[in-house]
Amino acid sequence: MEQFIVKGEVQLNGNVKINGAKNATLPLMAATLLCSGISVLHGVPNLRDILMMQDIMTLLGAKITREGTTLIIDTGNVSRAEIPEHLMREMRASVFLMGPLLGRFRKVRLSYPGGCAIGPRPIDLHIKALERIGAFVGDRFGYIQAEAAELTGGEICFDFPSVGATENAMMAAAVADGTTIIRNAAREPEVADLECFLNKMGAKVIGAGSDTIRITGVGKLNPAEHTVIPDRIEAGTFILAGAITCGDVVVENIVPEHLSAVTDKLQEVGVKINSGLNYIRVRAGGFRGVDVKTLPYPGFPTDLQAPLLAMLTLAKGTSIITETIFENRFKHVDELARMGAKIKVEGRTAIIRGVSKLTGAPVAVHDLRAGAAMVLAALAAEGTSEIDNVFHIDRGYEALEERLRSLGGDIVRRGSN
Ligand code: EPZ
Repeated sequence: MEQFIVKGEVQLNGNVKINGAKNATLPLMAATLLCSGISVLHGVPNLRDILMMQDIMTLLGAKITREGTTLIIDTGNVSRAEIPEHLMREMRASVFLMGPLLGRFRKVRLSYPGGCAIGPRPIDLHIKALERIGAFVGDRFGYIQAEAAELTGGEICFDFPSVGATENAMMAAAVADGTTIIRNAAREPEVADLECFLNKMGAKVIGAGSDTIRITGVGKLNPAEHTVIPDRIEAGTFILAGAITCGDVVVENIVPEHLSAVTDKLQEVGVKINSGLNYIRVRAGGFRGVDVKTLPYPGFPTDLQAPLLAMLTLAKGTSIITETIFENRFKHVDELARMGAKIKVEGRTAIIRGVSKLTGAPVAVHDLRAGAAMVLAALAAEGTSEIDNVFHIDRGYEALEERLRSLGGDIVRRGSN
């Protein structure tokens, strides 16, 4: 397993350009299956999760080539609508294929996506949404089979604004007969990006970004070309890296309002934040403990909870973080404790008592964003840290060590010995 070796107590300074969003790219790739032909996606990051989605779609018959950050996706020969179990287990985001495959072939078969380090992650809301527009969904022997003689518009009201379930429903409803209304829809920017792409394909979707989305089904969709929105979670991670190292970092090629909850909270901490049209600058300032609750967008994003927690281990006073989205997203706490952090977890709440310094240590990574948190802590800690299982980090951050080095960080990747 590859490791990162990080020498800490280095301030990060300089500019870093943000890539296209992983969590926008995955549903956009899935949406290309709704029609036959060649679609083009620009600004696609080179990440393990994107490669896994490419593998699955290739297995279904798609032909995908990459030219720099552009993916050319030919879905003309897609004929299969079954996702093999081993690939489903690899990546939960394969569940985004349910809606498009049902929309194209009126049937889909996939194994239950495995849970993961951050919780069981059921798909009941996905299934309920597809049933509301005419699908019959059964599950046997660990597989889910969804079929629909006809897809007809319907009313979907989510108990929880699930991002994936909202996106699956949008994609299937785009080719249903009649109008579908999704209430209590997820409002994430990635959902709005999917609406934009679906409409370029000829769909009629309005309201994404609000809690109510209206989709008027059309008979046929066509391939389209699209540039993926910037990755707000990658951007937030670099902003927090600048803050925890008391540096001066400009994060470029972003949509600042996608990070309003994050910059607002950092200003409460005392960090200096300046924003422009497509950049945010973060500089050292005060370092006060704060209370945070993760919420669906536009609230504080759960994907930045771990990186923020890492930063708050060094804040003056006590911070309280409540994780309302996932059941088990504090795996990074034990590893941070090895570096001298003082954190107590009670259910979905972490109580952090700020310490004056962290010390480097050998630590392990359990999931993507916990991995980012460990890197940030190591950058600020006294001494050297060895971070194991960095393949988790490669799922969501492209060449993280190189980009941190370009900001002055002392971090190298070492192969397994
Ligand atoms: C998306 O996951 C993101 N992944 C996640 O990012 C992100 O953390 C999450 O949204 C929340 O913002 C992608 O977009 C690929 P949800 P998704 O459905 O769609 C429960 C990262 O690090 N739920 O909004 O799976 C679920 O268990 C990843 O980049 C149900 O109960 O998230 C969870 O507790 C991690 N039933 C909560 O809702 C369902 O049918 C949020 O899930 C679906 C979800």
